[in-house]
Amino acid sequence: MRVFSGVQPTGNIHLGNYIGALKQFVDLQDKMEALYCIVDLHSITVPQIPEELYRHTLDVAALYIAVGLDPKKASIFIQSSVKEHAELSWILTCQAYTGELNRMTQFKDKSHGKESAPVGLFSYPVLMAADILLYKADWVPVGNDQKQHIELTRDLAVRFNNKYGETFVVPQYKGMEVGARIMSLDDPSAKMSKSNPNDFSRISLLDAPGKVKKSIMRATTDSETVIRFDPVEKPGISNLLTIYSAFSGKTIPELEHQYEGCGYGALKKDLVEVVNDTLQPIQERFQEIRPSEELIKILKQGRDQAQAIAQQTMREVKERLGFVQL
Ligand code: AMP
Ligand code: TRP
Repeated sequence: MRVFSGVQPTGNIHLGNYIGALKQFVDLQDKMEALYCIVDLHSITVPQIPEELYRHTLDVAALYIAVGLDPKKASIFIQSSVKEHAELSWILTCQAYTGELNRMTQFKDKSHGKESAPVGLFSYPVLMAADILLYKADWVPVGNDQKQHIELTRDLAVRFNNKYGETFVVPQYKGMEVGARIMSLDDPSAKMSKSNPNDFSRISLLDAPGKVKKSIMRATTDSETVIRFDPVEKPGISNLLTIYSAFSGKTIPELEHQYEGCGYGALKKDLVEVVNDTLQPIQERFQEIRPSEELIKILKQGRDQAQAIAQQTMREVKERLGFVQL
């Protein structure tokens, strides 16, 4: 069994990324062969400042390791360092229909209200399919917002296999019941995102303790006083309970019981502590690894491991398509 996933180097990793994706990356590296990528090719589907992209790419790589990914167990690499991603992406682009890409909600959201959108933004899900299929991954741990892209990946795999013969593994979406969609702290009807202009809408893994405190204490709740998990009626409190559960290992019913009769302030105060206690060792490890030569070595090693698999898949794909390989 093999697991593959990726994160875009478009800003600091926040609690949504951590709970929805990275925490699962760490769990799965012990259970199966693992490849985790920093998807820089995806990030340029929207404008990026080169210096920032460079910095964020290495930040995400260092954060992968700081949260517990172990280069002895998982291949950690940068997408653009394995050129087969772009190559397979083109081949799959020729299998995908404009109609199905038009239905992708992420494309609709990101292009909404714009007069025109880059072709790369439109074909973004095809590149994502190429990432996954290149490694014949069985499992893809991602947040809920990526579920539709995984469905498309499955469709493209089946379509190619039917046309050209069994080549790709049809991957599974690996989401979680709770935590697959962490919401903004200031507006619990929107998902926590790297691009929200309000810095207090999210908590980044590299945030200082004071910023964590401020963000949580200000988090939007409701006018009741009961601490109860109910994402429809009480989205703010439910979001805080989800974060608390992911960070403490306690179940949501356990937390509801623990905070019976308590006010929102008490819950928030404890959550600040739980989050800061978890982030502290992650930040220390990040500071060590980020400027080190070791990080570059890990990324080169990851690239070599990934490339060996990618090249093998591309040989098969080209043979199936009837390409002359010299
Ligand atoms: P991105 O930053 O868009 O590359 O996302 C990296 C990973 O984090 C993907 O698996 C996303 O689905 C996941 N993710 C992003 N935002 C959230 C969120 N608010 N809640 C849960 N998962 C998320
Ligand atoms: N589209 C994903 C996101 O924005 C990132 C991504 C790119 C990805 N390629 C992938 C995730 C392959 C899983 C597998 O979060």
